[in-house]
Amino acid sequence: MTIHRRPLIAGNWKMNLDAARGGALAKAVADKANEYECEFLLCPPAPYLSLVEQSIEGSAVRLGAQDCHVNEGGAHTGDVSAAMLKDVGCSYVILGHSERRADHGENDEDVAAKVTAAWGLELSAIICVGETEQERDSGQTLTIVSAQIAGSVPDGANAANTVVAYEPVWAIGSGKTPTPADVAEVHGAIRSNLAEIAGKEAAAGIRILYGGSLKPGNSSEFLALEDVDGGLIGGASLQAEDFLAIAASCP
Ligand code: PGA
Repeated sequence: MTIHRRPLIAGNWKMNLDAARGGALAKAVADKANEYECEFLLCPPAPYLSLVEQSIEGSAVRLGAQDCHVNEGGAHTGDVSAAMLKDVGCSYVILGHSERRADHGENDEDVAAKVTAAWGLELSAIICVGETEQERDSGQTLTIVSAQIAGSVPDGANAANTVVAYEPVWAIGSGKTPTPADVAEVHGAIRSNLAEIAGKEAAAGIRILYGGSLKPGNSSEFLALEDVDGGLIGGASLQAEDFLAIAASCP
């Protein structure tokens, strides 16, 4: 039986844009979203979540955040809870992005705890994994990624609550990408890893995104791969034209 996984085209704005440019970008995407088959997601910086929510209101574009705390509330200065994200209209949250793993020392255990917190509020978690350049050069890509999946994806993952993003650290923002054959191999391995945690049927429905220097000029060769179910896009998501062109390259 073939399982249909609707492609997800997700924009990770990181710590970029301002209210005026973010609002205009969200509106430009929302205005066109229904012309595409894929699902669109925008993940702005936390201060702009409500603003982007207003700009996409009534469209098919979904709202996501870039991180959440493990607790629902309390004395955690500077943090944001999954409950707050839900409250302002998020349906997704990116967790375990390599920039958070590197900048904030988040490990697989932290990521798994955040995923559980997100699930508790019925947010879908976009769980990020990926190897560094050094790990790749020493032939450890599959070992590293499998260990990250085993450590970051809690029991109970399914198509509704989980998306995985494979983002080789060295490909993020660098203009460098793996070959489509490399990406196909890693995504296939991730699906097998997910089957061990969630069972074959659930794993078959979970979307696995590719991320790392995805742009209109290279997206079609990645998005055409069988186990690539969309993209997590940083730099190229900051311009509506590029972001929509990537969406247009979904098979
Ligand atoms: P990039 O970032 O598209 O700018 O490489 C992707 C990401 O980090 O999610």
